[in-house]
Amino acid sequence: MSANTPALEGGTPVRTGEPVPFFRAALTDADVAAVVDTLRSGWLTLGPRTAQFEAECAAFVEAPHAVATSSCTAALFLALRALGIGEGDEVIVPSLTFPATVNTIRHVGAEPVLADVELASFGLDPGEVPPLVTPRTRAIVCVDYAGQPCRLTELREIARSNDLYLIEDAAHAFGAALEGRPVGSWAHATAFSFYATKCITTGEGGLLTCNDEELAQRARLLGFHGMQRDSWKRYSDRGSWAYEVECAGYKFNMNDVQAALGLSQLKRAHALRESRTRVAEAYSHAFRQMRALRVPERRPNTRHAWHLYVVQLQLEQLRVGRDRFTRALREEGVVPSVHFIPYHRQPAGRELTLRRALAHTEAFADRCISLPLFPQMPERDVEDVIEAVAKLLRHYSR
Ligand SMILES: Cc1ncc(COP(=O)(O)O)c(C=O)c1O
Repeated sequence: MSANTPALEGGTPVRTGEPVPFFRAALTDADVAAVVDTLRSGWLTLGPRTAQFEAECAAFVEAPHAVATSSCTAALFLALRALGIGEGDEVIVPSLTFPATVNTIRHVGAEPVLADVELASFGLDPGEVPPLVTPRTRAIVCVDYAGQPCRLTELREIARSNDLYLIEDAAHAFGAALEGRPVGSWAHATAFSFYATKCITTGEGGLLTCNDEELAQRARLLGFHGMQRDSWKRYSDRGSWAYEVECAGYKFNMNDVQAALGLSQLKRAHALRESRTRVAEAYSHAFRQMRALRVPERRPNTRHAWHLYVVQLQLEQLRVGRDRFTRALREEGVVPSVHFIPYHRQPAGRELTLRRALAHTEAFADRCISLPLFPQMPERDVEDVIEAVAKLLRHYSR
């Protein structure tokens, strides 16, 4: 048996012992201390730290308004509801996304119209949008896939000329920028995620940013029982017991324990992104020579948040498909993932009628593999991932 024989075919794995994880959280003593301080303060729920986190995030992404939420899913839902999208409306959205992007459109009672992505960034293809616009279309939801801003200039123009809202799912893209302007104020509403694996984390959490004060007010109200957010103060010694319910709202606020972690992480947001960028660059440098692999393309004038590093297998040059390749990687001691199984291939998605073929999405979905990528990823882990991929490509190439 040669050294090139994959562990899956009976060979010796590149890595023995602990596998390279797909992700490991980069928490510091300062993060832990910030959370402990908040626990000791006795104020655990929505309060001053959440308000401070909103203000600092708004400054960071250069957006006038920010509303902290329990998740990005909640932020997406609130954006749709606050913009008045609901029953009888259509919303154009890529199928290549996390289910929440599409589910939330269905939750408000609107119909998701699934669209294809473009090949350079795997964000929504602006050319695919106009043929899908009907008199019922109210909004476009685009996704900054893997942390790279999608074609926001073109999408904004299409939204403007068709009188549509543009909502940006920037779950992957906190800290990303296009033409020097951060993601956060390009669209009518932008939703970020602070889930554990994201660019910065609050454990679970999200943020809605926008330029319009009225929209921010509506989102705040809807996300907190239809009550003015300051009603949290009624439990403080400065507050009043009186409160008013202005509409039948939801419970989607962030709490101060999450916000304390977020504030601490925010101080390192640039450093965390630079750390991810170094890993992505090391991968691209190594993989660019490998003919059976396609590395992620960089769009010009963008700052990539590198939430994910996604390669595509050139299946014509390989003797195995993506699913066997990912199993083989796992056996080499590297934990990969897949982003995403497109929505239209899910049982829930089969209930939707496709109005146009999704050729790029279909091809990508059969070829994509997300490799481990996290801040402070040890060099040894990066080398093992590169060696494992190279070994499998040598063995499985035609
Ligand atoms: C593109 C995209 N949108 C939305 C979400 C939902 O984020 P959250 O878990 O914060 O609700 C995710 C989560 O991974 C995502 O990848």
